[in-house]
Amino acid sequence: MITINEHYLKLQKSYLFSDIAKRIAAFQESYPDTDLIKLGIGDVTRGLPKASISAFHKAVDEMADDTTFRGYGPEQGYEFLRKAIAVNDFKSRGADISADEIFVSDGAKCDTGNIQELFTQDTRIAIPDPVYPVYLDTNVMAGRTGDFADGRYNGIVYLDSVKENQFVPSLPEEDVDLIYLCFPNNPTGSTITREELTTWVEYARDNKALILFDAAYEAFICDKSLPKSIYEIEGAREVAIEFRSFSKGAGFTGTRCAYTVVPKECAAHDAKGNKQLIHGLWNRRHCTKFNGVSYPVQRAAEATYSDEGKTQTKALVDYYMKNAAMVCTTISKLGYDYVGGKNSPYIWIDGKIDSWDFFDMLLNKAGVVCTPGAGFGKCGNGYIRISAFNSYENVTTAMTRLTETLS
Ligand code: MLT
Repeated sequence: MITINEHYLKLQKSYLFSDIAKRIAAFQESYPDTDLIKLGIGDVTRGLPKASISAFHKAVDEMADDTTFRGYGPEQGYEFLRKAIAVNDFKSRGADISADEIFVSDGAKCDTGNIQELFTQDTRIAIPDPVYPVYLDTNVMAGRTGDFADGRYNGIVYLDSVKENQFVPSLPEEDVDLIYLCFPNNPTGSTITREELTTWVEYARDNKALILFDAAYEAFICDKSLPKSIYEIEGAREVAIEFRSFSKGAGFTGTRCAYTVVPKECAAHDAKGNKQLIHGLWNRRHCTKFNGVSYPVQRAAEATYSDEGKTQTKALVDYYMKNAAMVCTTISKLGYDYVGGKNSPYIWIDGKIDSWDFFDMLLNKAGVVCTPGAGFGKCGNGYIRISAFNSYENVTTAMTRLTETLS
């Protein structure tokens, strides 16, 4: 008899963004004439940088010719892309990361979800609340939690990210082994200073813990004093894995390209307490379960590091940040407290009422889709998240409708 992994039965009904998509579909069926503006899921709307498109075309042509055709590529990614990443994203900021510590993949979602496979079942896990649901759900699936009760899974150490701590969690009071951090944060849009991040790195070093640092939104950091990578912090190489993505900054949500950095010194321990290097284990997993990102996509990603690619990517980021600024101005005029929107495409708004009620009100009265904060965790209740990923015109209209609805 085939039996099910019962940990799946502990999961909440459906994945947050699928749940929202279903609600939107139902709304559109009932009101087909409403011109909905979607500021919910963080999905980009602008075309890829022109430099990426040219590189993409050229690479596709190479695939059409027997003499330049490529079959399976290296699972870890082509050297040309790994080198460009190491130089531009790390060495240029004084972070000592080399090309062979980079694993190119098709998404930070997959990587942040898969990484937990490397650690034991009894790993004590610290997860912020609110949080990008993937970190928590994948640990539930793996059986590292108890049941869901009163808005939380038993067995997880939740790190509250609330107004009182400026949405940057404090160190846990109990011992933990694995810590998920995400900055600029999804969903709150909050950022972490160098000093605060140093505290976390020191905690991990002192407690033989590991930090999983999700930096998928680093491209949106405008404040030059803020760290973009955890490897800008001394001592992080031994205790941190970092996740990056071309999705949000360069507009690759549909094209798919991301990467994970596992420094060679980064270690966990075996049952006898001996250090085991993670790099080789992640490499083993990656080669077994993943066959690499397609060649044209990797060329398109590499092109974002050319001079014109950098300028075009920055223009995309600036475009969305102009939208974010407009959302911040509107929300603040309407008298709501918010965080984010300055170094992040997300604006986290204290709606003062239940998040799903706020979501329904915006959907029904304004025809605007946001993301209810409660979907990101218990501490998210009362909040909604507005994403700056849409056209300037649509965001302008959405803000007019919001003002009419909420004034
Ligand atoms: C979000 O809206 O939180 C993200 O876009 C979802 C994702 O990146 O998977």
